[in-house]
Amino acid sequence: MKRDSGRLKSSLSALKREYIQSFVISCLVLLLVTHLILSLDGDLPSQLLDSRIWDGGPKPNLIRKNSSLNWESCPDNSSFFCAFLTVPLDYSNRTTEDTAIIAMRMYPATVPPSQRLGTILTNPGGPGTSGHATLLKTGPSLSVIFHGKFDLVSWDPRGVNMSLPRISCHPTDLHRQLFGLGHNSGDLDLDNLPVSAANITLLRAAARARLLTELCRDAVGDKVLRSVTTVNGVRDLEEMRKVVGEGALIYWGFSYGTTLGATYAAMFPHHVGRMVLDGVVYTPEQYGSLFEHGISSGDSTGKVFDGFLSSCISAGPFRCSLLRNGTADPSLLAKRIWNLASHLRFSPLPVAHPHRPAVPSVVRPEDLILSIFAALLRPTNWANLASAIADLETGDGRAIAALNGAGGRAWDLGNITDAERAGDAGWGVGRAMGADEADMAVSCGDAPPFPEYEDARWTHAWLHWRDELVANDPLSGGIWFKKLVRCSHWGRVQPPPERYEGQWKMGDDLRPPRHPILFVSNTYDPVSPISSGRRMVDVFGRNNARLIENHAYGHCSVSQPSLCIAKAIREYVINGTLPMEDTVCEPDEEVPFPPQNGSSSVIYEGEDQLVIQGFKNLGSYNRASAI
Ligand SMILES: *[C@@H]1O[C@H](CO)[C@@H](O)[C@H](O)[C@H]1NC(C)=O
Ligand SMILES: *[C@@H]1O[C@H](CO)[C@@H](O)[C@H](O)[C@H]1NC(C)=O
Ligand SMILES: *[C@@H]1O[C@H](CO)[C@@H](O)[C@H](O)[C@H]1NC(C)=O
Ligand SMILES: *[C@@H]1O[C@H](CO)[C@@H](O)[C@H](O)[C@H]1NC(C)=O
Ligand SMILES: *[C@@H]1O[C@H](CO)[C@@H](O)[C@H](O)[C@H]1NC(C)=O
Ligand SMILES: *[C@@H]1O[C@H](CO)[C@@H](O)[C@H](O)[C@H]1NC(C)=O
Ligand SMILES: *[C@@H]1O[C@H](CO)[C@@H](O)[C@H](O)[C@H]1NC(C)=O
Ligand SMILES: *[C@@H]1O[C@H](CO)[C@@H](O)[C@H](O)[C@H]1NC(C)=O
Ligand SMILES: *[C@@H]1O[C@H](CO)[C@@H](O)[C@H](O)[C@H]1NC(C)=O
Repeated sequence: MKRDSGRLKSSLSALKREYIQSFVISCLVLLLVTHLILSLDGDLPSQLLDSRIWDGGPKPNLIRKNSSLNWESCPDNSSFFCAFLTVPLDYSNRTTEDTAIIAMRMYPATVPPSQRLGTILTNPGGPGTSGHATLLKTGPSLSVIFHGKFDLVSWDPRGVNMSLPRISCHPTDLHRQLFGLGHNSGDLDLDNLPVSAANITLLRAAARARLLTELCRDAVGDKVLRSVTTVNGVRDLEEMRKVVGEGALIYWGFSYGTTLGATYAAMFPHHVGRMVLDGVVYTPEQYGSLFEHGISSGDSTGKVFDGFLSSCISAGPFRCSLLRNGTADPSLLAKRIWNLASHLRFSPLPVAHPHRPAVPSVVRPEDLILSIFAALLRPTNWANLASAIADLETGDGRAIAALNGAGGRAWDLGNITDAERAGDAGWGVGRAMGADEADMAVSCGDAPPFPEYEDARWTHAWLHWRDELVANDPLSGGIWFKKLVRCSHWGRVQPPPERYEGQWKMGDDLRPPRHPILFVSNTYDPVSPISSGRRMVDVFGRNNARLIENHAYGHCSVSQPSLCIAKAIREYVINGTLPMEDTVCEPDEEVPFPPQNGSSSVIYEGEDQLVIQGFKNLGSYNRASAI
């Protein structure tokens, strides 16, 4: 109990480190498709009742019709309903009675019951992200897009946050942060190092990955670690579909949520009702190779960076501080930024006090690169990024350190930082309590395991992967490489009960979904490139899938709101209608470098205003959730 409230508290002062988490993988060796009886939980397990979250809330009780879940008003906000669903820990083993408990949250339809159309299940991305917490922030915004006609339900995936068993490999958040401190000082900037130094750096990082793997095995156990892979997440989703009373799934998944959705469509094609997959990940490759996944994910990153530079120039020096000394050519701007990175390599910049209680840090090239990459996910942050880089050029690293916590180190051991409180530092809170470890367990467990170090061939192969990833995309390549290294010793964990190993080929292992899937891609998405959206349509076939393009920057369609996208999604969900082929939507507002006087050039009528506002709220909610 005490420990849990400590965790909640620390979750507020969470590490602000973040990246992409759109890894997934898994593979279905469909062992036995066993049908297990769900035991629905009337009594909430006491471990779930974190006193800080749940004390003192109202306790009315509402059982929704046609749902076998026991929905109760959530103690943290009575506009929502909460329920717990018990599912098998291992769907493939009938003999074990081990269970997992999935924490679900609902934002109910706002229309009268006679107009209610059903329940939309939504996954914010991750892995490791709390859907429970995300819905609390985004429920009303999602609801308005559908005229309040649906109950919206999200959940903490198994292993995450309120769901049990929770994956958490450190005894306290303080331990986690201290471990992270060491981890982040394990520098993976391998450029320009003599080979021997690069090897040493890599081998140290791999040793840390091995250490964390062993910590997780000790703290959580193989039985649980191996049970959180995506195939099991999909089976949980199927159980949720049943208990919310939908004959066919209605689903909106973002980023990693698209992998979950696509895998659902592969495993339960006959139960696909409506499926919106937004910020599309190329699922087959993820199950095949984390390296290939890193390569294809970086397909558009450079274009988003170019967009940052050209938007800065069209915004002018009042809105984009990088122009304050006069550069007006994108390639010169880019050169300035890369020069700055090289400069930091040999002159790392000490930053004493980014925020009062925060840990002092040293800004290194990878901190700059991580800040840029992070901001590319959210064009709303571009102005902040430009000003932080401009400061850095003048030798002031505070803003960059605050922007990404200088690689995760600018957190505060005792209290929430100013940046977190302001909520606009780009990273936000909510990644503590083992979210990264849950992410690791899903991502690494889904992928084929890596062989461990034996001799120099190992180092050679890994350094080669790194070179390829960085050559493919200099901004995100190193970040994907870290994700690879993180999985380097996951082979020590017992393999998952099921892996998705089917062929992603229609007519082969894939069957047409009951209803076509709607894929949504931004033209310029730094982690889920539109090429992945196109390839996924090819996987399912033109009769079974359609892509709609948001001509915008950032990760997922919510990064730059577009009424055209919102209406297409609504029409699809409500009426089942697909947009015309090759539909390209324009965003409605200028999001990067908006005018400082804040006036919008666009006037919306009635409900359009609400819908745009809904999208904006979704987009502003920390991207930690949608990557
Ligand atoms: C609830 O179930 C009943 C009987 O199965 C059905 O007639 C009714 O339409 C359902 N209501 C909703 C809101 O799904
Ligand atoms: C509960 O959630 C609703 C909908 O998001 C929000 O309007 C309200 O302010 C919240 N109430 C509390 C006490 O946080
Ligand atoms: C099924 O679970 C039981 C009980 O935990 C265990 O003894 C057995 O080895 C498991 N079987 C398989 C095939 O994993
Ligand atoms: C866990 O879920 C609770 C309830 O939704 C939420 O308040 C909290 O922020 C979540 N924690 C994390 C780390 O996401
Ligand atoms: C802008 O500032 C940077 C860093 O101080 C400098 O390298 C660059 O030459 C400046 N450009 C102009 C046009 O003054
Ligand atoms: C944390 O910050 C709050 C708000 O500024 C302050 O009231 C509180 O005393 C701080 N707690 C600690 C332990 O510093
Ligand atoms: C270090 O890497 C180089 C090049 O990849 C390789 O030739 C060398 O044998 C490696 N040394 C060790 C100790 O791994
Ligand atoms: C669904 O179709 C009906 C009938 O064609 C139409 O009146 C309605 O506006 C459509 N609803 C949406 C959300 O597109
Ligand atoms: C806002 O600023 C822009 C220039 O940045 C100007 O053109 C526009 O008129 C201003 N709008 C208002 C309402 O002041």
